[in-house]
Amino acid sequence: MSKLKYKLEKIAEFPPLVQQDQVVESNQPQEQPLMSLNDVLYKTMCSLDVFYRQIKFYHWIIKGQNYIATHRFLDEVAQMISGKIDLFAERLVYLKFTPEYEPTIVESKSEVKYVVSPLATTNEIIDNLLKQFDIVLSNLKESANKSIYDYGTQQFVTEVIYDVEVFKHHIESFKE
Ligand SMILES: [Fe+2]
Repeated sequence: MSKLKYKLEKIAEFPPLVQQDQVVESNQPQEQPLMSLNDVLYKTMCSLDVFYRQIKFYHWIIKGQNYIATHRFLDEVAQMISGKIDLFAERLVYLKFTPEYEPTIVESKSEVKYVVSPLATTNEIIDNLLKQFDIVLSNLKESANKSIYDYGTQQFVTEVIYDVEVFKHHIESFKE
């Protein structure tokens, strides 16, 4: 057997790599278009972006005796989220997707909806942030599930989930 023929036979033993966009989840209704990994990552990035702006808005308007501590902690949360947005953008570029950064597009894709409530108490603000944390975590978990065939992306998203969960847990202690 020639070396070339042997090599070709060896290559044929390995199944072709699964394309990310061809992954079909059997429990999804077929008539609904499935989101690609890139779409899910981009949606998650948009949710993180709106969430970031929401945290910054809330960190200015909170009131109460714990103002300084809560204000500073919310800034830490915002910084953490801001860093994740950049990492998502970098990962999308790595996956050959150009993330658009046009505010109306970002807001329409985001599952976190910006809330303006200047009269809210600190507890109401934290409760709303906790709900938004849950939406962000749900987007992140969807991203992790979708990236099952892309281990680098899945590892990256899993690390983001861990960091976001830690901050979500800490923010609960700021309720008055
Ligand atoms: Fe600040």
